[in-house]
Amino acid sequence: MIYVTRRETFSAAHRLYNPKFSNQENEKIFGKCSNPNWHGHNYTLEVIVVGQPNPETGFVINISELKAIIKEHVISKVDHKNLNLETDFMKGVIPSTENICIAIWKLLVDKLPSGKLYAVKLAETENNFFEYRGD
Ligand code: NI
Repeated sequence: MIYVTRRETFSAAHRLYNPKFSNQENEKIFGKCSNPNWHGHNYTLEVIVVGQPNPETGFVINISELKAIIKEHVISKVDHKNLNLETDFMKGVIPSTENICIAIWKLLVDKLPSGKLYAVKLAETENNFFEYRGD
């Protein structure tokens, strides 16, 4: 099997906040990410597709098609957006990196023309990485 990775980056604002909790409790749980006036991150997204190379093209997936699919279904909806207010697929969900990973998986899993989605990896900072494989 060949694992194909396409890397994309985007910048977005968010606030980690659960309305069930008081402001003080939110701050205790979520720290700086609970700032009521928002803040941003520069996210790095990696989408990994697995499969066998097609004998006629040598490709598991045409990477320029993969790039276009990620741009259309993910990047256009999150880049320079407020994830709490403007991103339809994050409505009602706490925009933790874990939850963003799961949401991106759901957006992409049935959109690939060949190969299978293997993992969605998302880094919120240089030091924090998250990965979802659909189960
Ligand atoms: Ni944050």
